[in-house]
Amino acid sequence: MTDLTQPIESALRDAVVSLFGDAFADLDPLVQPANNPKFGDYQANVAMPLAKRLGKDAGSPRDVAQQLIDALKLDDRFDTPTIAGPGFINLTIKPEALGTIADALLADGRLGVAIADDPQTVVIDYSSPNVAKEMHVGHLRSTVIGDALARVLSFQGHSVVAQNHVGDWGTQFGMLIAYLRLKMHSDIVTSRTGAASGDNFEIGDFNRFYKESKVWFDESEEHKEIARDQVVKLQAGDEAAIALWRFLREISQDYFDGIYHRLGIRLTTDDICGESFYNPKLPGVIDRLQADGAAVESEGALVVFVDGYTDRDDKPLPMIVRKSDGGYLYATTDFAAAQHRIETLKGDRLIYVVGSPQRQHFEMLFATLRKYGWADESVRLDYVPFGSVLGEDGKMFKTRSGETVRLVDLIDEAEQRAAAAVKAKNPDLADDAEAIGKVVGIGALKYADLSSDRVKDYKFSWDRMLALEGNTAPYLINAYVRVCSIFRKAELDMADYSASIEVGHDNEKALVLKLMQFGPTVGAVAESLEPHRLCNYLYDLASAFHKFYEHCPVLRSDVAPDVRGSRLALCKLVAGTLEQGLDLLGIGVVERM
Ligand code: ARG
Repeated sequence: MTDLTQPIESALRDAVVSLFGDAFADLDPLVQPANNPKFGDYQANVAMPLAKRLGKDAGSPRDVAQQLIDALKLDDRFDTPTIAGPGFINLTIKPEALGTIADALLADGRLGVAIADDPQTVVIDYSSPNVAKEMHVGHLRSTVIGDALARVLSFQGHSVVAQNHVGDWGTQFGMLIAYLRLKMHSDIVTSRTGAASGDNFEIGDFNRFYKESKVWFDESEEHKEIARDQVVKLQAGDEAAIALWRFLREISQDYFDGIYHRLGIRLTTDDICGESFYNPKLPGVIDRLQADGAAVESEGALVVFVDGYTDRDDKPLPMIVRKSDGGYLYATTDFAAAQHRIETLKGDRLIYVVGSPQRQHFEMLFATLRKYGWADESVRLDYVPFGSVLGEDGKMFKTRSGETVRLVDLIDEAEQRAAAAVKAKNPDLADDAEAIGKVVGIGALKYADLSSDRVKDYKFSWDRMLALEGNTAPYLINAYVRVCSIFRKAELDMADYSASIEVGHDNEKALVLKLMQFGPTVGAVAESLEPHRLCNYLYDLASAFHKFYEHCPVLRSDVAPDVRGSRLALCKLVAGTLEQGLDLLGIGVVERM
């Protein structure tokens, strides 16, 4: 046990109950790291609410705090607690105990991150781009946030099932197939050459392909009719139509895979469970919604009304599940997907990482799943919304010509800019600059996304995300690089290094207290599904490390051998925690930059 929050909490709970009885057993002891040496190492704020609940006769919160301290049975790792201000209880850990805890962290391959007591099957829907469409900056967010959450949850020991809910079905495929047919020889299509090209026609350029198809579609009633005919054929299982649809799907999958690979995203083709998968299940979904009494006829369509959801005119807001022409919708598929995830995949927790514009859709979906028992109390439903990426002007992030920004272009530019920065800073590394730039550039791109509170919009800025100072990936990677260089200078192999850690200097103490917070922070991210908490933590850790490094020489000749050993071990622990923490965010490290 390297996190002391829990032992402090339970000792306080025991003290409260022994003094005031079982009625107070539910009281939150309000324990947190003090984050300021003036207030000890941990601080408990329970005396204020407790005094209030006990009433005037019990005395002031300070009196109550004193009673608690007198009754408190803490182990000998702690000094006697003190009281500050109106009744804060400050707790201090003895330096020897901190050394022992740091040793335990260094010896623990998990760096203090607990394995979940009750491992769950967590189904997480993320990335979810659309077939035959370019991935853009909006997909960056879902992909990067979802991947980080998947990594955190699997590190905790949960069984994580990724679901890439790809948009691979719908009427737009009529248009795409018809246009593809017109433009390509069927032999090119069936040979699957990836970015197959006809005369001046690149299917791999999805933006162009989609746009051209749309222009063609809009040209005439006749074209629309041809496209509609293809939809009917596709739905009826016509071989030629299906082959073309598969072709579009496969080249899209290759393209997604390429993006995921470059971004270091763990999704593979096996995780794809797109809208088309649910198509055969939709009539059954409708039957069930009707049998439940959830779906009702409205103006020829079949809709679900959800208590509390109204439109602008205060009229009940429908979730349409079947159009009057019999077609199914996005919502219908999401009912089928939820059913699949709960009943077939046996998900205990369903997570949906989808942008805020779909908030209402998911709220209504979840409310319906609950109301009609599709998801009982044992299933946790989490919608993980996120805001938009803005340009430096504060408007939606667009290219200069006003187009949506393609994800590949961002990836290219991130890698190039980071490599150029490495070369400029350290000409010795010219040969490795490209490889280093890939790790640092992609890390910077992802970190910029992950480090802002996800529900908020954030401004995209190359200069900011690539800066070596501030809450950025390069800053964190640089702290790791610094530890590597210390070990290189000492001619020691970091991987094998071990020594006992002794906490003497204030900056050593602050660093160990930070290191102890890694486990609780990862736990908080898994609960809140907010990766920025881990980013903030790593930033604080790197800052504490830089302060330590400034004030506590490691290799200087006047440093005693055991102090040097202890500081080297501390450096290694910092590097390991940074590496593990960044890995949970899907970000790599380098040894030099
Ligand atoms: N393909 C959709 C889009 O690009 C996202 C799908 C999200 N997942 C879901 N189960 N609805 O907006």
